[in-house]
Amino acid sequence: MLFSSLKLGGLTLKNRIALPPLTRCRSSQPGNIPNQRMVEYYTQRASAGFMVTEGTQIEPRGQGYAWTPGIHSQDQIEGWKKVTQAVHQAGGTLFCQLWHVGRVSHNQLQPQQQAPIAPSALPATNVRVFIETAPNEGILTSPSEPRALSTAEVKEVVELYRQAAHNAKEAGFDGVELHAANGYLINQFISEHTNQRTDEYGGCLENRLRFLKEVVEAVSSAFGSQRVGVRFAPLFHSTDEERVYLGLVESDPHHTYITAAKMLNDLNIGYLSIAEADWDNAPDLPISFRQALRDTFKAPIMYAGKYTLEKAQYVIENGWGDLFGFGRTFIANPDLPHRLAHQLPLNEVDAGSLYGGTEKGYTDYPTYSTP
Ligand SMILES: Cc1cc2nc3c(=O)[nH]c(=O)nc-3n(C[C@H](O)[C@H](O)[C@H](O)COP(=O)(O)O)c2cc1C
Repeated sequence: MLFSSLKLGGLTLKNRIALPPLTRCRSSQPGNIPNQRMVEYYTQRASAGFMVTEGTQIEPRGQGYAWTPGIHSQDQIEGWKKVTQAVHQAGGTLFCQLWHVGRVSHNQLQPQQQAPIAPSALPATNVRVFIETAPNEGILTSPSEPRALSTAEVKEVVELYRQAAHNAKEAGFDGVELHAANGYLINQFISEHTNQRTDEYGGCLENRLRFLKEVVEAVSSAFGSQRVGVRFAPLFHSTDEERVYLGLVESDPHHTYITAAKMLNDLNIGYLSIAEADWDNAPDLPISFRQALRDTFKAPIMYAGKYTLEKAQYVIENGWGDLFGFGRTFIANPDLPHRLAHQLPLNEVDAGSLYGGTEKGYTDYPTYSTP
């Protein structure tokens, strides 16, 4: 089943193994520009049925970590063109993950060292951002105090998403994925903990979902709604560890995300992506949630979070999911679909070279060769 094809947004994916969005902090400086090393990295993994880029900032204020790529300047668009052309030549499909971190940023990463923007002026706690201290060197630090967007500014950010999607189209991507997970800007509008607005973008759940709805409609103007995906990270236990990872947890995630899924189903988007908790001893996503999501959302559902061949088969066989992101495993095994198909041994990921650096731990993981 994992090796059968899948229809997504009018495309035929060759298998159900996906490269999920993975920030690697290796764009060229200055300017956060995609480069030849990134061309090689994505092309090496083009045997995936589906690939999503690392989080890619839609505008300068959308950046929360040094060296992550953007899609708002012409140089960035030209850089991405080389990536999409090479991936297509290798038979791959690539969506661009559109990212705005909102309050999860630092003055040093912001234009004119301004405060990061957010739905409400509430600082992010228990999360770290990454700033450059010298060329090729940086430190993890606390996010800066954000300022709240005015209603007119919220609408301007929706337009920045629209422009970024048009840029992604110009760069040759097959579609876009909205990063609405992990405590970043769209998630900050959705969660009642981070959104205390009193205008039409705050208050009841319908209002808190309005920003997402308008962004989906805006980016659909570039690609058509079927080439738009949305990524959520619904978590169901607000333990300390989850707060560290997310910076926030909704009080009723089932209701929040099933309501959001219904809205997205009505907007006719191409797929929904669910990032599951992925740390050691992470709680499983409740089966009742998987089932409710399947009953609500009709297009493909992608899951990621410590997937193995067996876990993916179990979710497919129950009819809950269609496409499976393998994150750290795909980083370490560029030929992952081949290895999974033939049950070959897997390389281990090197945690020390995930973010930033050279080709080491990026493009130098070996494909399988017979010992
Ligand atoms: C190095 C690294 C970078 C990540 N960057 C992103 C990102 O840019 N956007 C996103 O939505 N998720 C990001 N994630 C989450 C992954 O997409 C995925 O959900 C997670 O790694 C769980 O899958 P795994 O257990 O197979 O690694 C990142 C994870 C890792 C390990």
